[in-house]
Amino acid sequence: CRTSITQSDIVYETQKQQVTIASLVQEFTILPITLKTIKDRFKSEMAKGLAKQGETLAMVQTHILGRLNGSETGTYLTLDIGGTYLRVVLVELSQGSAVSIRQEKYAINPLVKVGEPKVLFDFMATCIDSFLLANDAVIPKWSQLELGFTFSFPVLQTSINSGTLIEWTKGYTCHGMVGKDPAKFLQQALLSRNLNVNVSALMNDTVGTLLSHAYQHPHTVVGLGLGTGSNAAYIERVDRIGKRDTTVLGDNAEASEQEMAINIEFGAFDNERTVLPMTMFDNKVDRKSLNPSKQLFEKMIAGMYLGEITRNVLLDLIDNRLLFRGQSSHKLDTPWEFLTEYMSVIEEDSTTDLEDVRHMLEDNLGLGQVESLESQLVAVAGTTGPTSGGELLREPATTLSDRQIVKLVVKLIGERSARLTAAVLGGILEHTMGYTWARNEAERQGGVDIGVDGSLYGLYPGYESDLVRGLEELFVLEPEMSFLFAKDGDSGKFMEKIRFGRSLDGSSVG
Ligand code: GLC
Repeated sequence: CRTSITQSDIVYETQKQQVTIASLVQEFTILPITLKTIKDRFKSEMAKGLAKQGETLAMVQTHILGRLNGSETGTYLTLDIGGTYLRVVLVELSQGSAVSIRQEKYAINPLVKVGEPKVLFDFMATCIDSFLLANDAVIPKWSQLELGFTFSFPVLQTSINSGTLIEWTKGYTCHGMVGKDPAKFLQQALLSRNLNVNVSALMNDTVGTLLSHAYQHPHTVVGLGLGTGSNAAYIERVDRIGKRDTTVLGDNAEASEQEMAINIEFGAFDNERTVLPMTMFDNKVDRKSLNPSKQLFEKMIAGMYLGEITRNVLLDLIDNRLLFRGQSSHKLDTPWEFLTEYMSVIEEDSTTDLEDVRHMLEDNLGLGQVESLESQLVAVAGTTGPTSGGELLREPATTLSDRQIVKLVVKLIGERSARLTAAVLGGILEHTMGYTWARNEAERQGGVDIGVDGSLYGLYPGYESDLVRGLEELFVLEPEMSFLFAKDGDSGKFMEKIRFGRSLDGSSVG
């Protein structure tokens, strides 16, 4: 878990350090009032996106009507492509239990993300081919396998198994794909390998997470994806979708109780920069990204970007000679080299001297290494000298103050991410309350389930508790919503009415 640090815990070496840290704390802290402003704005953006195509929040109609009730059965193949990995999973559904019988995970080569679409889709087909070969013994011997294709990018869905890519996110840029159907590309790649696999469903990862969680928890209303990218899907009442396409909705589409899963694509929230408290560091990350001025919200909260924001803050402190005596390192100078995983290690360090932080900074990132006078003299004299001797002349030297500052910066960025996520989740819950859940006293008592998938939520220390605290701040004083935080008399526990459930592999299983 996270071990806490505040600005007053830091042993400052200079007053300028103290002043600068105080202003960073101010910039990155999301006050309750800001949480509420963001939540309200998000709610109104949801309404806009439901009314009309082409708004900032895509509010994609998934063509998935109704909810799962656990009675769905069968054995299916899934291919799940996300920001970092591709997974092929063989899933068996039976009586409310969804078992992934076999799965393989393949790392996606960064070059494939920015190359020709054909290379990307051929890679997907190759992974399926090798999965089928390796698992031949357990693959059902049907003439044709049905495949669910989880494609974690914004797609304007035209049917349950077709749609057009709105834009690439998360560092993908495969040329010429926007406006094209990823399911068709995959089907072609499968055919060209003579694989008898039919792409029978195309869906966003968050929709998968929503569905897989709902399979076991019928009160599930939201599926959250908090990993390399960030997004959510939720259950909407069809009569609230102003832009609904009645021709594809079936006969009783207008029945007021009819429901449909909506993929919000909340990463694009506030691309207009009206309410998000963006700092100059967020602007830097945005400018250097492959999709400048897009996905601004995602860039403040998602796993792909948190390390990069941290790197930019640390470099600024270094350039102002407030950290590591003004010395950076090759690794820290390199964009995207400070991984969000490093933040988890730093957050977790509970040693008095911050030994894990020291190890991370000095050994992994090569920071705080001051060349001794002797080694500088060797360099001036042009003597190459033995490299092992050169190593010995370097003395690792981050100070406690350096390490404490790094730990605080990391905490500010991690906590801000969770609180911003709380603001939009609060908006979704408020928007749906009374429509798809809490429609009567029994449902209010039953509360609401939220399925979550993704490494940020699963692995980042303290993320869930920050998220919960943010929701509590939002709702505890809202008369309509405060029932969610009614304290249990004995245990004093708050959260039994909002239940988060880690939906491991949910994006595939769903
Ligand atoms: C990005 C994608 C979105 C996906 C999310 C989480 O925001 O645009 O479709 O759900 O990442 O993977």
